[in-house]
Amino acid sequence: MEKNVTISAILVLATFALAFASANIYPEFIKWHVYIVNGLSNNQNLWVHCKSSDNDLGTQILSQGSNFTWSFRIDFGHSTLFWCHLKKENVCESARFDAFWFDDRLFEKCGWKNCVWTARDDAIYLTTLDGKVSQLYYQWDAGD
Ligand SMILES: *[C@@H]1O[C@H](CO)[C@@H](O)[C@H](O)[C@H]1NC(C)=O
Repeated sequence: MEKNVTISAILVLATFALAFASANIYPEFIKWHVYIVNGLSNNQNLWVHCKSSDNDLGTQILSQGSNFTWSFRIDFGHSTLFWCHLKKENVCESARFDAFWFDDRLFEKCGWKNCVWTARDDAIYLTTLDGKVSQLYYQWDAGD
């Protein structure tokens, strides 16, 4: 009898522990932040224009080292998608890319909170907020 009570208690605790652990990774409950960082050299400005189907975030001109950020929650249909058009001010190179979409692999790389896109001279990188991990994602294209 006592043994059964103990086992029940352990099961109840384990269930709660699991529920809490997975609540942390329900992407719908997270406030997501996306950053676009001007990591170009030579004092170059970066032109940034990001959108979703509901929101036009407008054209931003970022000086070297600065960033543009916005936050949102994922809709329950999982269709949230933001895309961006980046343009180097002094060089005829640009990039169009998806900056946020529903994908566990992306969420993992964003540390389940912050998706940081850093535009460097050679390409666009997905980086961690602390800048320690950085992965090449998109190339610049010639033209606007
Ligand atoms: C964005 O800019 C702010 C203000 O300068 C700075 O505090 C923050 O660290 C920057 N974030 C990133 C990801 O570069």
